[in-house]
Parts: sequence; C-alpha cells; structure tokens
Amino acid sequence: MTQPYRSIVLVGAGGKMGMRISANLARSDFNVHYCENATEGQQRVRDAGRELSSIDDVIAGCDLLILAVPDIVLGKVSEALMPQMKAGATLLTLDPAAAYANLLYSREDIHYAVAHPCHPSVFLERYTEEEHADAFGGVAATQSVAAAFESGSDAQRAALEAVIRVMYAPVDDVHWITVTQLAYLEPTLVETVTCMLGTFMKEALDETVARTGVPQKAAEAMLYGHIQIALAVAFRSTNPFSDACMIAIDYGRESILREDWKKIFEQSELDKVIARMLKIDHVHRDEPTLAPTR
Ligand SMILES: NC(=O)c1ccc[n+]([C@@H]2O[C@H](COP(=O)([O-])OP(=O)(O)OC[C@H]3O[C@@H](n4cnc5c(N)ncnc54)[C@H](O)[C@@H]3O)[C@@H](O)[C@H]2O)c1
Repeated sequence: MTQPYRSIVLVGAGGKMGMRISANLARSDFNVHYCENATEGQQRVRDAGRELSSIDDVIAGCDLLILAVPDIVLGKVSEALMPQMKAGATLLTLDPAAAYANLLYSREDIHYAVAHPCHPSVFLERYTEEEHADAFGGVAATQSVAAAFESGSDAQRAALEAVIRVMYAPVDDVHWITVTQLAYLEPTLVETVTCMLGTFMKEALDETVARTGVPQKAAEAMLYGHIQIALAVAFRSTNPFSDACMIAIDYGRESILREDWKKIFEQSELDKVIARMLKIDHVHRDEPTLAPTR
C-alpha cells in the first residue's frame, strides 16, 4: 500500500501530548516535522533531541497535520493553518470536543480525524516494572485507542491507523467510531462519570480521615483494596457483592446519586458540557464539519 502520509506535521510538539507522541513518532520511519510556538515548549523539544521546524516551511507539503494544541485554541489554529494545506490531506486532533462543536476550520477537500488514547486498562496484566509505571500509556503498558475518521478511503483509514498505532504505542485495538460517539465516551463516560468518581473517592477518603480519626494509612489501605474488588465484582463478576454490601450500595445510590443522573446521555447535555469545556456560549451542531458516518 502506498503510504499517503509521507509528511507529518505535529503542532504543539512541546506540550504534554506533543512530547508523548513525539517520543514514539521519533523512533519510527515516519517523516515528522515538530512545530511549537512557546519558548519553553521549544526548549523541551530540543532537550529531547528533536529538531524544530517552522510551520510556514512545512504546512504546504503536509499530508497529515496533527494538532496537539489546547482544545480552546483549536478553532483559531485550524483557521490559521488549514487554508495552506494541500487538497486530500488529513487533519488529526486528539480530542473530539472541537470537532463535535464544529469549531474546526471547514474544508471539503480535507479529511478530518480524531484519535484519543483509552489509557491502559485497570484489568491489564502487567509483567514488567515499566508496564506498572506506565499509568498514562504510550510507553510500556498496552492500551487501546478510540478514533473517528468519517471520510476518506479504507486505505487512508488503514494508513492513519498505522500512524495512530505508533503515536500511542503499544496499542492493541483501534476502535473506529463516530465523532459524536467519541464525545459520549469523552467527556461523558470517562470524564463526567469516571474522573468525577475518582475525585469523589479522594474527597471521601479525606473526609473519612478528617471526621473519624481513622489513620490515613488505614483508610488508604481499606479504600485502595476495595476499589480493586469493587471493579472486579462490578465489571468481571469475580464473585457477587454480599447481601449486606448490596444494602449499603442501595443506601449510597439513594443518598449520593441524583435520580435523573442518566440525563447526561442526552445530546443537549453533551452539548452543554462540551460548550463549558471549550468556553463557548453553545455548540453549533446543525452543519457538521465532518462527512456523514459510513
Ligand atoms: N493532556 C492529556 O492528558 C490529554 C489526553 C488526551 C488528549 N489530549 C488532547 O491533546 C491536545 C493537547 O493537549 P495538551 O494537554 O497536550 O496541551 P498542552 O497545553 O500541554 O500543550 C499544548 C502545546 O501547544 C502549543 N501551542 C499552542 N498554540 C500553538 C500554535 N499555534 N503553534 C504551535 N504550538 C502551539 C503550546 O505552546 C503547548 O506547548 C488537546 O486536544 C487535548 O484535549 C490531552
């Protein structure tokens, strides 16, 4: 198969994601140009032994533009760069919010894609110290990727998947879904629910220690072990929760959860949270930038 992504341009190469994906891309055969506009970010790129390119020198010849810039500036950055791209090239963003909200500069002759790392699963079997240390993924612990590419040929999608597999390596599955589905995964499922519950458990731990006099270490030991067993029982059915535990779970749901919590899966609510994240008044979804799902 001809490699349609002969020239890859990474903008925001000195940021958190930029540095992570650059470290993997730099070890591959892909021809990557690293662009970064902040002085500190530029220093990080140089310190890692990578050469910086000026965006003006590389944008016209770019086959795949990866924008690893903050979501709130994606609209402006895409507006500045995309008019200079050649027809048939692909724009890849790392989060669905801006694509979902139609904030990206629109061109019919450019393909739009999003690829978000799933992070290594809590159920991943880890064998080495490096795998254990790699909580985020992209270093040693295998993770999956959720991605959207709603236009372009199967060959282009396969070529894009090859790049994505390097960016987030080691990768097992790449799940191809729509931008809207990706937005229901992040933020709704994993940030609104899961990350909120993570911070909630930390708050409950602090409250337990502050209110009851239970030593910090005892509370941590009890909580961390029960996070593990709660996930194993709820998701893997390793063994049932005890009858008394089920009663305490019901009490917890009644006391803590709102009855209408599932409204977060209504699209109007997804629009609200994405508008908040992007710091815009509201989301315009009437005229999708991306082509309809195949
Ligand atoms: N941080 C995470 O854990 C994470 C995880 C998954 C996806 N993402 C997504 O990755 C993207 C980048 O997020 P981040 O957390 O790495 O952001 P960041 O703020 O750490 O880095 C962004 C970088 O872009 C640079 N930049 C901004 N405008 C630029 C421009 N016009 N030209 C060149 N460089 C420019 C900044 O100087 C900075 O170095 C976002 O879409 C985010 O949603 C982030």
